[in-house]
Amino acid sequence: MKRICVIGTGYVGLVSGAGLADFGNEVICSDIDAEKIQQLQQGVIPIYEPGLKELVDRNVKAKRLKFTADVPEAIRNSEVIFTAVGTPMGQDGEADLTAVEAVAKTVAQNLNSYKLICTKSTVPVGTGEKIKRIIATFKNNGNEFDVVSNPEFLREGSAVGDFLIPDRVVIGVDSPRAEKVMREVYRTLFINETPMVMTNIPTAELIKYASNAFLAVKISFINEMSNLADAACADVHVIAKAMGLDGRISSKFLHPGPGYGGSCFPKDTNALAKTANDLGIRMEVVNAAIRANTNQRESVLERIRDLMPELAGRRVAVLGLAFKPNTDDVRDTPAEEIVKGLRRMGADVVGYDPIAAENFKKYYDPELEIKESVWDAVEDADLTVILTEWNELRGLDLPLLKEKMRQPFVVDGRNILSVEELKALGFSYRNMGRSKI
Ligand SMILES: NC(=O)c1ccc[n+]([C@@H]2O[C@H](COP(=O)([O-])OP(=O)(O)OC[C@H]3O[C@@H](n4cnc5c(N)ncnc54)[C@H](O)[C@@H]3O)[C@@H](O)[C@H]2O)c1
Repeated sequence: MKRICVIGTGYVGLVSGAGLADFGNEVICSDIDAEKIQQLQQGVIPIYEPGLKELVDRNVKAKRLKFTADVPEAIRNSEVIFTAVGTPMGQDGEADLTAVEAVAKTVAQNLNSYKLICTKSTVPVGTGEKIKRIIATFKNNGNEFDVVSNPEFLREGSAVGDFLIPDRVVIGVDSPRAEKVMREVYRTLFINETPMVMTNIPTAELIKYASNAFLAVKISFINEMSNLADAACADVHVIAKAMGLDGRISSKFLHPGPGYGGSCFPKDTNALAKTANDLGIRMEVVNAAIRANTNQRESVLERIRDLMPELAGRRVAVLGLAFKPNTDDVRDTPAEEIVKGLRRMGADVVGYDPIAAENFKKYYDPELEIKESVWDAVEDADLTVILTEWNELRGLDLPLLKEKMRQPFVVDGRNILSVEELKALGFSYRNMGRSKI
């Protein structure tokens, strides 16, 4: 059992803090956002993440998990400091390390004993060295410290399960002492025989970017195949299924859609490309995936124009605003560009999302008319556009949809509606790679 502080209590920090407490550690989660901490102290979870409330409550009750807005105090009282602050995209595509560097400085100023500083934020290769330099520069005593890279692979929407039962844990260390501490922090996972990749710090830093970039490439590949399938009257689902039966390819991440979004893939692919460029290395494949993803937003708009060339004054219901289901996160959501595009074409847009509607309004479109239910949103609509594969949209009652809409026109950006049923009901439709079958 270790005394741990997690700095940054967002999607990653809160799940990791609660998960580390569940592994038996004594954890204090800390954030500069005092309002967020106040909510957590009152038992309110500031984000939507299935299962997180139960995990937090259980560990608070067991007195293994606390919250504070006093970051320096949290550092002084802990041996292991996890950094889970944001690393958003900077102006030239690089990862903005302002928060990571600020935390390193605060750690240095509060280094009242040996501490291990463990980076969970996604940071470019070389950041571990940078953190070491900052702490060495700003510390004002002889206390020792170690720096570790422990990138996080959880997925929003299934973050709790991903953290508690991960596919693998990657730990980049450069001292036996740090390795020993990390083995104690993750003792539960070592006992469970979770695959642990113990490596050096630069390798651990690159593993995270390599994984996200590879998945982004896979998504962009199948998205481009879906565009080709539509042009060639083929069925991308059958293509993906047959490809996935090849064990070298695997069926995961072969679902076409409006392009990847969220707080990770867009910024991480850009950051990797920028790092490679700075190091004089060409990464054509990653750069192509980034371009293909931008094009994919436009390809949804093309399908919309193809189905309904005159959008001015038409009522369009956009169902799904989050970048994926089971989250309230709208960072880099495809809905942003697509709603904008619809507006540019003069459409009268109305939105619906079971969880993320408020965030969408707050961050992108305060004027957007939001409806409380699917059925309110599609009432008298000329066109319905599906952008997130929420379960309730997968099970959409198509006869009722037809009854509610003014005209039966649908663009299924996630391929969740049955083509056979759409056809049988007389809908005019487009989807991603199954439009012409
Ligand atoms: N969201 C994901 O699915 C995911 C998955 C894996 C890795 N990551 C990485 O984890 C990191 C965090 O992502 P997130 O989605 O949790 O971000 P987030 O924006 O939800 O949370 C970041 C938190 O850090 C706090 N913060 C910022 N500066 C601070 C400082 N100086 N001191 C204390 N707190 C500070 C913010 O107030 C915020 O609460 C990023 O590097 C991201 O790339 C995210």
